[in-house]
Amino acid sequence: MRTPVMAGNWKMYKTAAQTSDFFAQFSPAVAASTHAEIVICAPFVDLPAAVEAARSTSIGIGAQDVFWLKEGAYTGEVSAPMLAAIGCQWVIVGHSERRQYFDETEETVFKKTVAALEAGLTPIVCVGERLEEREAGATESVLAQQFEGGMQGLDAQQFARIVIAYEPVWAIGTGKTATPEMAQAAHAFLRSRIEGHFGNSAAAACRILYGGSVKPDNVRGLMAQPDIDGALVGGASLIPASFAAIVNYL
Ligand code: PGA
Repeated sequence: MRTPVMAGNWKMYKTAAQTSDFFAQFSPAVAASTHAEIVICAPFVDLPAAVEAARSTSIGIGAQDVFWLKEGAYTGEVSAPMLAAIGCQWVIVGHSERRQYFDETEETVFKKTVAALEAGLTPIVCVGERLEEREAGATESVLAQQFEGGMQGLDAQQFARIVIAYEPVWAIGTGKTATPEMAQAAHAFLRSRIEGHFGNSAAAACRILYGGSVKPDNVRGLMAQPDIDGALVGGASLIPASFAAIVNYL
C-alpha cells in the first residue's frame, strides 16, 4: 500500500550544466518506472536546471535544506516558499551532515519540517544513530529522541505528509551498509513509535526510507524488508546508470 520513494541526495556535487547532462541520461532510463516516486535532491543553484530538465518526466525535484522563516534578514538562507516557487516539491530536513557540521538540532528540524509543509513541500526528515551510539546500545533511544523532537509535535495531517529517512550515520558514504535485518529492526522500531503517537493507520501509511551506502547490488535485499519503503541515496545517485539501476531494483 505504500508507494516506494527512491530519492537521490547529490550533496555538494554537480554544476547546473552537469545537472542537465545527468537528466539527459537518467530520465530515459527511468521513464518506464511507475512502481516508485523518483526524486533528485540537488544543490540550490542546480534546482532551476533540474526542474527544467525534469519538466516532462515524473521525477520530482528537491532541495537538501531549507530555512524555517519565509523571508527576512538571514544572509545565505533559502526559504520554503522560494523553493516551491521554482518548482521544487521535496526537501531533505535534518540530514546527519547538517546535524554534524551545521548545528542542526531537533528544534530546527521541527521548525524546518513545519515550514516545508506550509509551503506545500514534502519533507524527507532524516534520523539515525552515530557509530558510538550504536555500539553503546543506544540506537533506539537516539531514534526515539529524534522522532520526539523532530516530528512528534506535528499534527496528524502534517505528519501524514512527511517521509522519514533512517540513515545510520556510520553507513553514510562509508560503503558500510546496514544489513537488511539491522535496517528493518530500526524501521520497525520507528514505525512502532509512530503507531504509539499517531495511531495505527498513520504508522501503516508512513513511508520510511533507508539511507547509507545504498548501491545497485544491495538495494534489492533492503527493499525486500517489510518496513523499508525506499532509499535515500548519496554517492550512487550521482551516476545516471547506477541511480537508474537502484530505482529499477525490481
Ligand atoms: P551515501 O549517502 O549513499 O553516499 O552513503 C546517503 C545520504 O547521506 O543520504
